Amino acid sequence: MSNETQREQWGTRWGYILACAGSAVGLGNIWRFPYITGLHGGAAFVLIYVILVFVIGFTVMLAEMAIGRNSQLNAVGAFRKIKGGAWPIVGWMGVTAGFIILSYYGVIGGWTMAYVLKSFTGLMQADAGEAFGSFVTNVPIVIAWQAFFMFVTIYIIYKGIGEGIEKYCRILMPSLFVVLLILIVRAVTLPGAGAGIAYYLKPDFSKLTGGAFGAALGQAFFSLSLGMGCMITYGSYVGKKETLPGAAFQVCFLDTAVAFLAGLVIFPAVFAFGIEPGAGAGLTFITLPNVFGKMPGGMIWSALFFVLLFVAALTSAISLLEVVAAYFIDEMKWSRTKAAWVMGFCIFLLGIPSVLGVAGKLPTLAGRDFLDSADFLASNILLPLGGLFIALFVGWFWTEGAKQEVTNDGTVPFGIYTLWLWACRVVAPIAIAYIFITGLKW
Ligand code: PFF
Repeated sequence: MSNETQREQWGTRWGYILACAGSAVGLGNIWRFPYITGLHGGAAFVLIYVILVFVIGFTVMLAEMAIGRNSQLNAVGAFRKIKGGAWPIVGWMGVTAGFIILSYYGVIGGWTMAYVLKSFTGLMQADAGEAFGSFVTNVPIVIAWQAFFMFVTIYIIYKGIGEGIEKYCRILMPSLFVVLLILIVRAVTLPGAGAGIAYYLKPDFSKLTGGAFGAALGQAFFSLSLGMGCMITYGSYVGKKETLPGAAFQVCFLDTAVAFLAGLVIFPAVFAFGIEPGAGAGLTFITLPNVFGKMPGGMIWSALFFVLLFVAALTSAISLLEVVAAYFIDEMKWSRTKAAWVMGFCIFLLGIPSVLGVAGKLPTLAGRDFLDSADFLASNILLPLGGLFIALFVGWFWTEGAKQEVTNDGTVPFGIYTLWLWACRVVAPIAIAYIFITGLKW
């Protein structure tokens, strides 16, 4: 019996949507979205972001889901089966991007776990900057946490689609939402929180430059897990009766909602204590612990926040590993057990230079350490290129097949089909080419 006939499927539609949302909602939503929103004009930026998510993001997401569901294969096999020629290279780039992103994502995932524990063991009493510095330079400890995070990720992928990814996303995603709501209530009721909300959301249209547009689209792409075959792989486990456009819409909505809500935790909390909001790792692992340290019951708030970050990172990490594992399972005929453990271990090894780089034990490249360089290669080069080719593939090279797929062979109406087709053909490629070119300069 071939792999294709015994392919596992999601147990329920909601399980599938939560798995996709789990992939989309990640570190990108919690530490990057609020920061770039504050930087680029608050509510005005949110408006542009939402438009881009639903025009470009939705378009590419549905394209990926259609390719996956039609082929019932991994990212490389999907292109091989549908068209062949040079197209599988697009899938290859995706698998490579998954491998690279997970290598450093696993490192940061390990930090989040360590910080849950550290919230109770002195982090609140220490200077958070010093605590972070001494943590990341302690290489064996960081590698141990990275290994632990990767172990959990591998275990879930080894368990498979229904008993692994779906089961855990069904528990983890609602928990993430509850924790987020608790943190929002805490943050917005702090005295002085209003200044943070104003900073985050006060529309400032003068900041909406071309750079803001590029930043919004790049962020939308990374945040929605697009361009690397993740939604192709998850789509390949969807049954023929499901309707895809609704699923794509719901995933876009959930991802955007979580990103937006994360800002309602971060800015009110930071401004209530008169601290300048920083960016990325600094904001999350230094600024916020400083803020929590000043709050009554700070240990609990800090631990809850890092649990939130850990859950977000974990459900994204499993999708990254699944892209790689599915390739080895379908194409190389490996067992799921072998694919999960062997590839998970290789990815863990590739993460070690990121650990060493952050610890200052490796030379930097053009001012970027290994982690930043890996992120640049994957996020600024491989993902946009992947997204570009996926949109062109569906728009120009597989038009009829894609139409059948998104309408379930003409049985389900998809009112905006023509708009979607032209978004695949022209709008998305132009917009993605734009972020690709501006992204190369970063
Ligand atoms: N969407 C994730 C985030 O926002 O952090 C990152 C990511 C996961 C990108 C999975 C790509 C991917 F396939």
